[in-house]
Amino acid sequence: FFEDFSRKTTHDFLIISHRGAAQLAPENTISSVNAALKQQPDRIEIDVQQTKDSVVVLMHDTTLDRTTNGTGLIKENSFSSLSKLDAGSWFSSDFSNERIPTLEAIIKLIDGQCQLIIEIKKGDDYYPNIEKNIVNIITKHQAESWVIIHSFDSEVLERVHQLNPNIALHKLLVGKLKFMPFIISNQFESFHIDKRPYIKAYSINYVFANRDIINLLKSKGKEVNVWNLNDADYARELISLGVDGIITDNPNLLKD
Ligand code: G3P
Ligand code: CA
Repeated sequence: FFEDFSRKTTHDFLIISHRGAAQLAPENTISSVNAALKQQPDRIEIDVQQTKDSVVVLMHDTTLDRTTNGTGLIKENSFSSLSKLDAGSWFSSDFSNERIPTLEAIIKLIDGQCQLIIEIKKGDDYYPNIEKNIVNIITKHQAESWVIIHSFDSEVLERVHQLNPNIALHKLLVGKLKFMPFIISNQFESFHIDKRPYIKAYSINYVFANRDIINLLKSKGKEVNVWNLNDADYARELISLGVDGIITDNPNLLKD
């Protein structure tokens, strides 16, 4: 299936639209995913959290404060109370009718038009059964062939792998400067890569992507992506070093 996707690609790298398309519409909303779909990216990335009544919803933060007119933790609210909130005005008054979407609504909307990457921000220990709930939604809609899960948390990926080994898994690397010593240590990376052979791709903070890390990952047969890059010249440089995919807030920037 993934080979079929790469044949459809008209450029020689993957364009991965971030949080829907975060520069074009309020992140992680229906409008954001629709804006991304219009640009025909290879993949769309979204973030998920879970409500008190176990509904998986799109949201980057664990709290409502930054991107809605509500306050407090998502896990302390029911979906019915969250669904009344305005999830768009913080971005622009044009989006005041925007609501927090469920993961299920987004899977129905994308319906295999491109691949969907779901980022699981917090695992089972924070949101009971979240991995199981997500896997159930994916299988209910027979979306295993076009949905990917990525996470900074290896234990989350391991749990998803145990639940359904057919779902593609990507590992996010290096969110914070304090991890810098690890990424320059080939030994650490080799250990991690060999321990989890089912991980298909590694997605690196672009600031820390370099020839050594890219070569190491490629030598292990892994796809290498970088995030979050909104600069075409920088993207061109990293593609020349062998990067396979660019995660960007605006696919338009990379098309030309
Ligand atoms: O694509 C990687 C990226 O999504 C991870 O960072 O904070 O934007 O979810 P964040
Ligand atoms: Ca994300």
